[in-house]
Formats: sequence, C-alpha cells, structure tokens
Amino acid sequence: MKILIVGNGYFGNRCAQYWPDALILPSKVKTKEEIDSVLDHYRPDAVFNAAGVTGKPNVDWCETNQATTMMGNTVLPIMLATACQERNIYFLHIGSGCVFYGDSSSPFGWHEDDFANPSAVYTRCKYAADLALTTLPNVGIGRIRMPIDHLPNDRNLIDKLSRYPKIIDVENSVTVVEDMVKAFRGLLDKKAAGVFHVVNPGTIRHREIIAMYEEIVDPTHTNEWINEDELVALGLASKKRSNNIMQSNNLEAIGISMRPIKEALRDTLEKYAQNLKKIRS
Ligand SMILES: NC(=O)c1ccc[n+]([C@@H]2O[C@H](COP(=O)([O-])OP(=O)(O)OC[C@H]3O[C@@H](n4cnc5c(N)ncnc54)[C@H](OP(=O)(O)O)[C@@H]3O)[C@@H](O)[C@H]2O)c1
Repeated sequence: MKILIVGNGYFGNRCAQYWPDALILPSKVKTKEEIDSVLDHYRPDAVFNAAGVTGKPNVDWCETNQATTMMGNTVLPIMLATACQERNIYFLHIGSGCVFYGDSSSPFGWHEDDFANPSAVYTRCKYAADLALTTLPNVGIGRIRMPIDHLPNDRNLIDKLSRYPKIIDVENSVTVVEDMVKAFRGLLDKKAAGVFHVVNPGTIRHREIIAMYEEIVDPTHTNEWINEDELVALGLASKKRSNNIMQSNNLEAIGISMRPIKEALRDTLEKYAQNLKKIRS
C-alpha cells in the first residue's frame, strides 16, 4: 500500500518510522490546486493527514491566531479530503479527543457518535473538520488524546508532566504512541470509514503517571500538586484544558485493539528510561 503522509511533524515522523511503504510529503500544501497536483504526482492508495496547527509554545497560541488555526485544522483537512474523494483515495485524518470537555452522560465516557462541546479555538477548529469530514464516505478520523511515547519529545506527556513544577491531578483517556501507530496502520489497511477513538482502554490519573515515572525513570523527581482552577489562576494556562474519558467501541468493532493503559504505560516508561540513558551517555 502506498501511503502519503501530509505533515512533517511529530506524528507524521513517528508513523513514518514504523511504515516502510509510507512517504512524508516534504513540502507544505496551501491550496486545492497544490493538493490536486501532489495527489496526481504521487498517486497514493491512501493519504494520512498528520498536518495541523497545534500552537507554539503551546495550544494557547491558537487563541489569538484564529485564522492560521482554522486554515491548518479545518480548511486543510477539508481540502485534502475532497481532493481524495475526487480520486477515490482513502483519507485518514488525525482528530483530537480534546473536542470533549468534562464528563459525558455515559459512565463509560464519550462515544464516537456524541456531539462534542469544544471551547478553545484549537478544539473548535478541530471539531469543525470532524463535522464536515464525517459527511464523506471513504474517510476515517482517528481521535487521539495526550500522547505517551517511549522517545523523549516536547509533545510527549511524560516529558511535559515530568518537567512541570506544578501539576493538576486529573483522570483521562490517553494514547500510547506505539499502540497508536499500529491502530492507525490497521485503519489504513482496512480503509475504515467513520470516527475512531484511538485511546488505550482504561483511564489514568496524572498522579499515577508520575508515581510510575518516579519508580521507573527518576526516583529523585518532585513536584507540587495543584487543582484545575489554580492552573489558570496561576497563569500556567490561559484556557482550561480538556480532561475527559473516551470509549473506543468503533476500533474494537473492526478488530483493532490497543493494550490496557497501565500495562502500556509501564512498558513505555521502561523503554523511555532506556532511551533517556542512551541520549545522555
Ligand atoms: N500532539 C498532540 O498532543 C495531539 C493530540 C491530538 C491530536 N493531534 C493532532 O495531530 C496532528 C499532528 O500533530 P503533531 O503533534 O504531530 O503536530 P506538529 O508536530 O506541529 O506537526 C504538524 C505538522 O503539520 C505541518 N503543517 C501545517 N500546515 C501544513 C500544510 N498546509 N501542509 C503541510 N503540512 C502542514 C506543520 O508544519 P509547520 O510546523 O512548519 O507549521 C508540522 O510539521 C494535528 O492535526 C493535531 O491536531 C495532536
């Protein structure tokens, strides 16, 4: 299968490291005409959209850069999806579980078909793309949550939490990158259409992640625990972050599974500790 990855960033590169038949588009695409000519040149069997605007240094940047956020997270995926439709190319888009804020009405968490309640500019733009793309056939959306990776990286929740001097203790669905890459590959191979929650089964609290980090990676680590309201009040974030629990029925229904979160986290932290040693030596 010839996979064209759009988005030469964190997830685009992590997936390309595992998929020998995939190629990352080296350039950026801005218009439908550019996308048309790229697709006609590469003639892929599937397009994987790992492009987007996530904000630098963090997502708060999107609050005051609405047009760029909208172009990258709403307009670009719609242009890519429509160009793929015209050529009968399967299109898989990385969505975000952060479109859900707070508790769902189900004790099992937010369902793939639930209407979301995004609040921030980034999440509203991500959800706008989801709403449009779900009207199309031959399109899959894989919604992920905070990535947990065995390679140190600024996007990695392990790096983020271990560096913050003050942390909120919240319960969340999360995505282990190694499992995510396999799940995305499964969706591409099956050309699966619809919305898929690409999260590891079970939930995890930040306190549990830190406890396992201190056990496996760094026993000298310390931090202060604060509550959610303090995060904004202390100026550590300009908007409240999305914390939520998601169910993943659609992935299971097509036979794609991810490891239970606590098992996957332990394995990931063990590999992370080894990788950190290699980097430091
Ligand atoms: N990281 C997370 O925690 C997370 C969680 C949930 C969902 N997601 C989604 O996952 C996707 C990828 O995120 P990421 O963390 O890998 O972000 P990333 O490292 O910033 O990668 C995104 C890449 O897309 C590129 N890009 C932007 N506009 C483009 C265009 N018009 N054409 C081609 N490439 C373009 C960016 O280039 P420049 O940097 O040069 O602009 C960047 O290289 C995004 O859609 C994001 O919403 C991320």
